[in-house]
Amino acid sequence: MVTGEELLTQLNKSCLPRHVAIIMDGNGRWALARGLKRIFGHQAGMESLREVVKLCVELGIQALTVYAFSTENWKRSRLEINFLMGLLIKYLYQEIDELCTNNVKIKILGDIEKFTPEVQAAIAMAIERSQSNNGLNFNIALNYGGRFEIMEATRVIARKVAAGKLDVEEINEALFAGHLYTAGQPDPDLLIRPAGDYRVSNFLLWQIAYTEFWFTEIKWPDFSRIHFLQALIDFQNRERRFGG
Ligand code: IPE
Ligand code: IPE
Ligand code: MG
Repeated sequence: MVTGEELLTQLNKSCLPRHVAIIMDGNGRWALARGLKRIFGHQAGMESLREVVKLCVELGIQALTVYAFSTENWKRSRLEINFLMGLLIKYLYQEIDELCTNNVKIKILGDIEKFTPEVQAAIAMAIERSQSNNGLNFNIALNYGGRFEIMEATRVIARKVAAGKLDVEEINEALFAGHLYTAGQPDPDLLIRPAGDYRVSNFLLWQIAYTEFWFTEIKWPDFSRIHFLQALIDFQNRERRFGG
């Protein structure tokens, strides 16, 4: 089996993606396949996240966005949702010191008002403590939906127009992008989806216009630095034409 060290030698460090997005999928199926409850898959998935964040820091990648909870994930059982929220709180308090040591800046993409005060407090702590860091931009998509994001941006822009603060003719792609959660960050160059489903599931709909996709059958809890490096190497062998 190929090792991380071997893959690292194949990687061209001077042409890494600036922004990598990941749909962290397959936790439930990973657990069920082992005769465990779905929540154990979420727990195991945390380790994969730690490893990937660490690797992004090591490589000097500019931005990492992970899909942690979608606007559709509220359809899940109370039990599973509560477990995920507990895990998020635990992750943020446990990891914040190391994230700050690694100069990681945390940002949340999504509408966090629907979360409990406890979850919101953990998020506020993580943002506050990491706000002056200027290394990896670590975006966590929480209660995130691409359609909701676009709709909200439209609402804010429409209000500005209605108030006479913005002319309709001034609306262009850059202005629109500046009203999204990802304002100021480059679009993802690479989107990774583990667990064998080939869809976008309402993730970063605007931002992925020219993103390269990388799919694997591996479930998120089994996803390691090897897979991340494989995705990066594949990405480096693609020809991006952007319509040209
Ligand atoms: C991804 O794993 C984690 C979240 C959506 C929160 P899933 O829970 O969707 O796992 P599968 O896709 O059911 O296996
Ligand atoms: C996408 O996975 C959302 C997250 C990983 C947070 P889902 O499991 O919710 O997506 P579908 O339902 O398979 O499309
Ligand atoms: Mg899933």
